[in-house]
Amino acid sequence: MKLFLLSVVFILTFCTTRSFAASHHSVDSKHKARLAHSTANKAVERDVPHHAVLLSKTRGHPKARGGKAQLKEAINRAQAKYQQSFKNYLANTGNVNKLQNTSFVHDIVRPRRSKTKRQQGVDSLTDIDGELLWTGPQAFGTPPQYFAGGQDFDTGSSDTFVNPGYYNPSKSSTARDTGKTFSVQYGDGTSASGKIYNDTLTVAGLQAFGQAVGDATSSDIGSESAGISGMAFPSIAQFQRDPFFYTLRKQGAVSRGVFGFGLSKENARLDLGTLDSDSYEGDINWVTIDDSNGFWQTSQGTLNGVPLLTSIIDTGTTVIVGAPDQVSLICLQAGGIVIAEGTDIFCGYVEGMAPPQFTFEFNGQQYMLSRDAIDFAQDGPLILTGIVGSGIGLLDGWVLGDAFLRNLYAAFDIDNIRAGFAPRR
Ligand SMILES: *[C@@H]1O[C@H](CO)[C@@H](O)[C@H](O)[C@H]1NC(C)=O
Ligand SMILES: *[C@@H]1O[C@H](CO)[C@@H](O)[C@H](O)[C@H]1NC(C)=O
Repeated sequence: MKLFLLSVVFILTFCTTRSFAASHHSVDSKHKARLAHSTANKAVERDVPHHAVLLSKTRGHPKARGGKAQLKEAINRAQAKYQQSFKNYLANTGNVNKLQNTSFVHDIVRPRRSKTKRQQGVDSLTDIDGELLWTGPQAFGTPPQYFAGGQDFDTGSSDTFVNPGYYNPSKSSTARDTGKTFSVQYGDGTSASGKIYNDTLTVAGLQAFGQAVGDATSSDIGSESAGISGMAFPSIAQFQRDPFFYTLRKQGAVSRGVFGFGLSKENARLDLGTLDSDSYEGDINWVTIDDSNGFWQTSQGTLNGVPLLTSIIDTGTTVIVGAPDQVSLICLQAGGIVIAEGTDIFCGYVEGMAPPQFTFEFNGQQYMLSRDAIDFAQDGPLILTGIVGSGIGLLDGWVLGDAFLRNLYAAFDIDNIRAGFAPRR
């Protein structure tokens, strides 16, 4: 088994001294903020421009995480998130989201995160480790409250909320109780609820004033991140308020409505208000985005020559999810083995044999699925890829999650409603 094992939790902490002093308008300024990037034993300090944050993620050995269980967990999360977004969209617009399969019913018999599951020993870690979220520092309130674990920056949702026990509005001079509450009921049986505050959000030395922040007072969503910061479009925001990047843009904290994710094993980063040309090769290959359903949705992609009618670029989903029949076909044609389990499809190959190859294409440019996304998990003698087939309630839709995005630089532009890719440098 040649899979590289890493089970180090990187905790990002933000060194306050200079970054907080950085004014929110100097997006392209040369000022540097110091990020203390602390690993298990030693702190590595790096200078990064203050409009960027370093991201980190928790990884574990695929086998230790339970292989298939890890993929299932990612499917559950995606299903839950999209179902919630569809509900929000209906509440906000009065219309059923065009991407929603309304005949889809939650598969509530799926294993849910629960205390009983956690008591099962080794497997109990799968539901936490399987999340594999990209997180980075983001603070709330005045003075800024930073949380270990960081925020999960998610281009697949649009609200900002914090899990219980982190944000303390009574210790923030800028917190305003909006009198509104929120409640998310996920299809896998988990839920979160709490109060919505207006408060100052600080990220990468930029400040969003009066940002809607959900302070969860109850939650049974197992998570290693402090919370989620949604970066999709306003129409799927449950809070019916601007996502934080919109607030930054409207208030002039950033002069361009662009942000860029560089997801890679080392030095993963999120740039706000600018794209870091040192982090990618060549030019950004821009694709047209249809924002009418609230997601970073494009119809320009193909996978191994098969057109993807709808694909959603989603940094908050670990895997690539497609319709089961399409995934089966593409997997078999690529030389993979299809493993059906219930209504889900996994695509794998026998360890030691030639792995299937997957190539995405946008505007004539090809992006091969990276080897670590092909060797995503292990299930006995099989290696499972990060491409799964599951009816998560999307009509003919694909979710292009981290398995697609790793080793790319992904750019998002709310001014021109477009997204793009370039090879990561
Ligand atoms: C919609 O959901 C139903 C029920 O899960 C499923 O049988 C059907 O295949 C789905 N349709 C599409 C187009 O995904
Ligand atoms: C919170 O912000 C919204 C949007 O700016 C505003 O309409 C509302 O009055 C604010 N609420 C409070 C309590 O400050």
